[in-house]
Amino acid sequence: MTTSNKKGLFITFEGGEGAGKSEQITRFAEYLKTSGHEVVTTREPGGTETGKEIRRLLVEGDKDKFDEITEILLFYADRRIDLTKVIRPAMEEGKIVLSDRFNDSTIAYQYYGSNKFADRKIMDNLYQIVAGDFKPNITFLLDINVKVGLERSFKKAQTMINKELRFENVDIAFHERLRQGYLELAKQEPERFIVIDASGSIDEVTEKIIEAYNHRINK
Ligand code: TMP
Repeated sequence: MTTSNKKGLFITFEGGEGAGKSEQITRFAEYLKTSGHEVVTTREPGGTETGKEIRRLLVEGDKDKFDEITEILLFYADRRIDLTKVIRPAMEEGKIVLSDRFNDSTIAYQYYGSNKFADRKIMDNLYQIVAGDFKPNITFLLDINVKVGLERSFKKAQTMINKELRFENVDIAFHERLRQGYLELAKQEPERFIVIDASGSIDEVTEKIIEAYNHRINK
């Protein structure tokens, strides 16, 4: 896999549960399209048909059904499929790809959140195998108070037939750790991350995202 991303743009959206990523991606995609860009959206896990099968294994059912290694291998398998089938081909055609989650989710959830790995070496090695030096151009981190986010997330799940609550059903300290982990990642790479306060109304958050995007790309 080539490692440069000369064409197109890859923008990821990250955040804990109930941060409102999917609604914001839909709105931001509309904004980019009306500005004349070709836009492709994807998600992890589950951006492809095969990925949807992996997603079902990961987000439904008992929270302890996989050991931690099995779990991250499934996330990276899904990521590899998404990269090779969706992200890279669209970028080669000069499109803007928006992804609902990417590698920062694995670091936030499986490293900072779950506390089961002493260091990040396994994840960083797997990322290197799956993606090489490839990285998102911009990462929006939608930051929200953990309790507010989880409440939103449980409310949304009430409308789902298959309840995707495997990660929500982990204790609150896990969610606090992953929130702080995300903020730490943003601090480490300020040139890639844009932290957005996601506690406002949907319109307010959209406005902040568009403003921050324009500011960043015109720098
Ligand atoms: P979503 O509900 O935002 O689509 O994400 C699905 C769940 O998967 C969510 O609880 C976060 C979790 N997840 C990880 O734990 N690690 C990862 O690498 C990814 C991509 C998602």
